[in-house]
Amino acid sequence: MSSVLITGANRGIGLEFARQYAASGWTVHAACRQPHSAGELNALGGIRLHEIDVTDHNSIDALAAKIDEPIDVVIANAGVMGPRSDQQSFGSFDYEAWRAVMEVNLYGTVHTCEAFTPHLEKGDQKKLAVLSSKMGSIADTSGGLAHYRTSKTALNMAIMASAAGLAQKGIAAGIFHPGWVQTDMGGPSALITTEECVTGLRQQIAGLPVTAKPDFLTFDGEVLSW
Ligand SMILES: NC(=O)c1ccc[n+]([C@@H]2O[C@H](COP(=O)([O-])OP(=O)(O)OC[C@H]3O[C@@H](n4cnc5c(N)ncnc54)[C@H](OP(=O)(O)O)[C@@H]3O)[C@@H](O)[C@H]2O)c1
Repeated sequence: MSSVLITGANRGIGLEFARQYAASGWTVHAACRQPHSAGELNALGGIRLHEIDVTDHNSIDALAAKIDEPIDVVIANAGVMGPRSDQQSFGSFDYEAWRAVMEVNLYGTVHTCEAFTPHLEKGDQKKLAVLSSKMGSIADTSGGLAHYRTSKTALNMAIMASAAGLAQKGIAAGIFHPGWVQTDMGGPSALITTEECVTGLRQQIAGLPVTAKPDFLTFDGEVLSW
C-alpha cells in the first residue's frame, strides 16, 4: 500500500490531500498542530493523526522517529501568509512577524523535508513535494507582501540547493504553486477549489522526475519562471 505524510493536514489544501489520498486507499500520515480538535480530519476515518508544529524542530524530529516505516510521498504543505499587507510593505516592515513567517514557510518546511528524507529513501515512490507560491517568483512579481514572498523565494532556493543531493538518493523533489485556491489563506474569491488543486497536484507529484534541477510547477503542470 502507498503512503503519504502531509503537514498542515487539518484544513485547506492539506486537508484535501488527506481526503483524496485516503479515498485512493493510501496510508495517510496527517500531521497538524492540534490533531484532537481537527474535526474534519478526524471525520475522514482511517487516517493516522500526528501532532507537529513545524516551528518546533524537536516535534518534527520526534514524529520522524515515531514513524519507523517507509513513506512514499512527503508533502510539506504547512504555511502562513503573515501579517496584514500594510505591515509587509517597505517603510513599515514588521521584522518580528517576518521572522515568524520564515520559521514556518522556510525553516520549518525545509526541516520537515530533511527529517523525512530517510523515510523517502526506504519508500518505493520517493517523491518530496513542497508547497511554494507564485508569489515567490522574482521574475513575476507585482510587489507587496514581502514577508510571504521572500519566504517562498528562499524556500524555492533551499529546495533547488538540495535537489542534487536528493536526486543522488533517488528522491524526486517538486516545488509547486498550487494555484489561487479557495481556502482560509486564498479567500473565497480564489479561482479554484481545493479539489481541483489537489487533483492536479497529485498528478504532478506522481510524475515528478529525479533531477538536480526541478522545475517550478503549477498544479496543472505549467512551468513558472523563478
Ligand atoms: N490558498 C492559496 O491560494 C495558496 C496559493 C499559493 C500557495 N499556497 C500555499 O499552500 C499551502 C497551503 O495553503 P492553504 O491555502 O491550505 O492555507 P490555510 O488554509 O491557511 O492552511 C494552512 C495550514 O498550515 C498549517 N500551519 C500553519 N502554521 C503551522 C505550524 N507552525 N505548524 C504546523 N502547521 C502549520 C495550518 O494549521 P493551523 O490550523 O494549526 O493554523 C493549516 O493547516 C501553504 O504553504 C501556502 O503558502 C496557497
